[in-house]
Amino acid sequence: MVGRLAAAQPGWSVRADVVVVGSGIAGLTAALRLRGLVDKVLVVTKDVLDAGSTQWAQGGIAAALGPGDTPGQHERDTLVAGAGACDREAVRVLVTEGPDAVRELIALGTSFDLHPDGELSLTREGGHHRDRIAHAGGDATGAEIQRALIAAVARAPEIEVVEHALAVDLQLAGDGGVAGVTLHVMGEGRRDGVGAVRCRAVVLASGGLGHVYSQTTNPAVATGDGMALAYRAGAVLQDLEFVQFHPTVMWLGPHSRGQQPLISEAVRGEGAFLVDWEGRPFMQGVHPLADLAPRDVVAKAITRRMMATGHPHMWLDARHLGRSFWTSRFPTILASCRQHGIDPVTELVPVAPACHYASGGVATDVWGRSNVPGLYATGEVACSGVHGANRLASNSLLEGLVFSRRIAEVLPGELRPWTDPVADTREPVLVDGAGRPALQEEMTARAGVLRSAGGLMAALDTLAGISRLAGPTVDQDAWETTNLVTVSTLLAEAALLREETRGSHWREDFPERDDLDQSGHHEWWVENGELRHGFRPAVPTDLSAAGRP
Ligand code: SIN
Repeated sequence: MVGRLAAAQPGWSVRADVVVVGSGIAGLTAALRLRGLVDKVLVVTKDVLDAGSTQWAQGGIAAALGPGDTPGQHERDTLVAGAGACDREAVRVLVTEGPDAVRELIALGTSFDLHPDGELSLTREGGHHRDRIAHAGGDATGAEIQRALIAAVARAPEIEVVEHALAVDLQLAGDGGVAGVTLHVMGEGRRDGVGAVRCRAVVLASGGLGHVYSQTTNPAVATGDGMALAYRAGAVLQDLEFVQFHPTVMWLGPHSRGQQPLISEAVRGEGAFLVDWEGRPFMQGVHPLADLAPRDVVAKAITRRMMATGHPHMWLDARHLGRSFWTSRFPTILASCRQHGIDPVTELVPVAPACHYASGGVATDVWGRSNVPGLYATGEVACSGVHGANRLASNSLLEGLVFSRRIAEVLPGELRPWTDPVADTREPVLVDGAGRPALQEEMTARAGVLRSAGGLMAALDTLAGISRLAGPTVDQDAWETTNLVTVSTLLAEAALLREETRGSHWREDFPERDDLDQSGHHEWWVENGELRHGFRPAVPTDLSAAGRP
């Protein structure tokens, strides 16, 4: 799958210095920060502005803002959760620039929840040793951040927004750098159909790949488009095997597919705990932080208990939080539970792990640069190295914010000259959208929470079969399915090569962590039309210099 996506010839063209692909916290922060520094910023987004994952974020945004907390302590918690696979410099950047970045979000108009004395109300989530999660509307943090960012973009006439615009492929110049983007726009009148944007830089902020799996907390737009597009353009992708499964996703029955309701870790942060079908709490003794252990530990403990008992889910007990606390602190989750016939004030909530977050993605340096000249990546589509093998809760909104600000610092001084794209003579590829459910079932069964060599090899065979189902119709479903096949294949290849258990990557045939041979990053890229793979050893994580827990 290393050709170009099949698409008609562009029927229209426009120019913009910078194209930002994606409109969540990462994309809109980059656009807002770049305005005035470059001539024109064009934001393109596959659906409407608030259809991405930011809008759905519940828990909040982590930063060392509370009394007694320090960036060093946040650094330590991030490194421990990342299970020896974080990039130390990237983590330092995240935790030291994080507090200012959150303050800037507040100055922009984001209303975080406050104590009566006006101080930020901070909560705790898995893997954190301090209360450091700022939240808004109780459990509607992402929606409030998205609202504030959209309002700021509306006040910035220098930023043009095109909704319903899928970025199909990058157009490359003779030196392999960015010269433009091919877009497909649905229903924009004069810009309907396939078009070309000539540009001098692209900031990819298009989110993750949750719909590789049958059940995910991600909205429907998360189909790995940005990662697949970057890969086809020669960008290095890394750490794709590290997909985080959120432990407490509401279980809606064996046949439920697509986006599933999240029960935020903040509910456990406020005292809820997991119980099995006999009503026994089972996280005590598994980890010193019990129900608030890092996410991979909790997801594995739930899965183990499900396998041992044959039950399809476990239970979350949050009844003792009481009606008025539920109503004020978790109004969104309360409404979502009730919509599904469960009252968490009086009943246990059925929960099981489901795909939540891609820790890997387009490899970047600490300024968001990929290896393709003029291509930057930020947010979930990127792999800056801050998450390692398991992202610390509520570090994702922060990552998008911090690294988008950094991109805006360097990009204007590095703008490429206007260059003509060279003709793309690669074979067009397109997979039939009808293959998507089979792909998701296979990835869930064999490349999900628990993996083995046999299962991963079988998944790769199935994916190869699906990739041969040529798409009869050139449409968004087929483009997305093609992108899903690309990222699923790389993910399964990487998971097969990683013969150990580390963070969110769990191999039943290699149950131990292997720091001797496997500490490092699997990287994938296309060169001269061929798939290449490399392994880059990690710098060992020495925690002695990080803050005390
Ligand atoms: C949650 O609220 O549990 C999710 C927060 C996150 O993924 O960081």
